[in-house]
Amino acid sequence: MLKHPEQPTIHDASAFAAMRRAGQFTAEILDFITDYVKPGITTGELDRLCHEYHLAHGAVPGPLGFHGYPKSVCISVNEVICHGVPGERVLKDGDIVNIDITPIVDGWFGDSSRMFYVGNVGKKAQRLVAATHEAMLRGIGAVRPGATVGDIGHAIQTYAKSQGYSVVRDFAGHGIGRTMHTVPQILHYGSPGKGLRLEAGMFFTVEPMLNAGGPGAAILEDGWTAITRDGSLSAQFEHTVAVTDSGFEIFTLSPKGWHLPPYSRGA
Ligand code: MF3
Ligand code: CO
Ligand code: CO
Repeated sequence: MLKHPEQPTIHDASAFAAMRRAGQFTAEILDFITDYVKPGITTGELDRLCHEYHLAHGAVPGPLGFHGYPKSVCISVNEVICHGVPGERVLKDGDIVNIDITPIVDGWFGDSSRMFYVGNVGKKAQRLVAATHEAMLRGIGAVRPGATVGDIGHAIQTYAKSQGYSVVRDFAGHGIGRTMHTVPQILHYGSPGKGLRLEAGMFFTVEPMLNAGGPGAAILEDGWTAITRDGSLSAQFEHTVAVTDSGFEIFTLSPKGWHLPPYSRGA
């Protein structure tokens, strides 16, 4: 069976314009939800707030109903690697939380996630979060025409390892545009010069998940929530990017400059 029969789409200027709008809206929701991430709130309430924000601005939450996914965003706390299904879980002081937003804006998908601190977070967890953000940036930094997907994965994996963390292998970044998940697959590990060669006009996500312990993942009975097999902490950041003539463009940068916690609030 052919795994990836299609070639990645090379997008034109109007697609770039559409993705800038979708990407900015994605970042705007993450900025909006930041103030609500506090001890005592449930992940279900955060999902509801994000859901309403989509609708209030004429966007559609991409995850809702996607392969049967029951909620509008993914919220992954502590040992949850990704695809945490919002519900009754109450956030408590010291938790680290990933919120992953995938809106459809005028038919185009944005996809981005950030980590958040709930109250006072311990040094170990802070170090994991900072390293995960840096790993993502190093992966994105490898993006340019002529580089390969292996270069992206290698940059991420090498940095993660140097910091004493493991990279989750069960989930990957993905091509994106008018569909949420398409080619190319962006593994967060790899070998320099190996794999698909990047060309200007490709759109995809870079979304590494780093574990404090081993890389193993398990799926809970809800069929979605991925947790670390050893119960160790996990962190993730995600941006939607394009390959450009000169390198890369990040579509999902925060309008407020809130890239890495702790985020300045109000004031
Ligand atoms: N945003 C997720 C990703 O990064 C996918 C969300 S769709 C869901 O690919 F159904 F898995 F929630
Ligand atoms: Co994604
Ligand atoms: Co995502």
